[in-house]
Amino acid sequence: MVNRSEFMIEAKDLVYNYPGEEETSFPALSGINLAVRRGEYLALLGPNGSGKTTLMKLFNALLVPSEGEVRVGGISTADEDKTAEVRRYCGMIFQNPDNQLVATTVEEDIAFGLENLALPPAEIQKKVIAVARMLGLEQLLQQPPHMLSGGEKQRVAIAGVLAMQPRCILMDEPTAMLDPAGRHDVIETVRQLNRDQDIAVVHVTHFPEEAVFADRVIILNQGRLVMQGRPQNVLSDIPLLYSLGLQGPAAAELAALLRKDGFNLPPQLIHSRELVHSLCSLEPKS
Ligand SMILES: Nc1ncnc2c1ncn2[C@@H]1O[C@H](COP(=O)(O)OP(=O)(O)O)[C@@H](O)[C@H]1O
Ligand SMILES: [Mg+2]
Repeated sequence: MVNRSEFMIEAKDLVYNYPGEEETSFPALSGINLAVRRGEYLALLGPNGSGKTTLMKLFNALLVPSEGEVRVGGISTADEDKTAEVRRYCGMIFQNPDNQLVATTVEEDIAFGLENLALPPAEIQKKVIAVARMLGLEQLLQQPPHMLSGGEKQRVAIAGVLAMQPRCILMDEPTAMLDPAGRHDVIETVRQLNRDQDIAVVHVTHFPEEAVFADRVIILNQGRLVMQGRPQNVLSDIPLLYSLGLQGPAAAELAALLRKDGFNLPPQLIHSRELVHSLCSLEPKS
């Protein structure tokens, strides 16, 4: 099916109640209207329990809306016959890489989704090698996944999704279990795919530093979309972030403290490099 929409994902008047949820409590998600554009990098922040994972599951047809609609590549996720198509269009990376790697070698793992498409073995191998090369995993193809570092495991999971040629990648706290080097590798890999291949990304993260490069930042709180905008607008608003129990990127936090101390810094500082430049170009205080 050709998707003529400029939107990869569209949520309209979306509500989700988990079965048996107390009537007195608020729904896991409500009143969500959101569209992910072609090639867009969207960062999704919010405190624990704000509905981030639920939203990602709705985007991946792991859950279907209680009310409203989710369309992925133009297909309603409520259409049970099209679930496989939805998941191919928009692949999902979870927090714990150990739960998504299932095969005995990296090569088999990357091939796993393709096997289900019943492609000829030679074609599968070609695609696996191409993807492994793209992500710098060629040397690891014969390794058992459990021998890899956390960052490598997540990159193998990304390779498995990428082999399906998705238009969009969903990531639910993909770096939460990784060390800083693994985190850096995973984020760079995804940013590169987004930049070079125009693959849209929806990235749920607890790390404000991971959101500074997004095209748009969305904040959820108590199941509602409470803020969205460019990273420099949303992530520099430290009082707002604090009021939701969140933090800003280090540069924004530090800039806020320095301004209180009388430093004349430009607004909307979120990148460390920007902060350093601004500080270095300040007139010395007399
Ligand atoms: N399987 C479930 N059954 C019932 N309630 C759930 C289930 N999963 C999540 N919830 C509830 O839905 C809300 C949103 O959860 P979740 O989407 O996991 O939030 P987040 O990923 O932002 O931490 C929370 O109140 C949580 O307790
Ligand atoms: Mg979650």
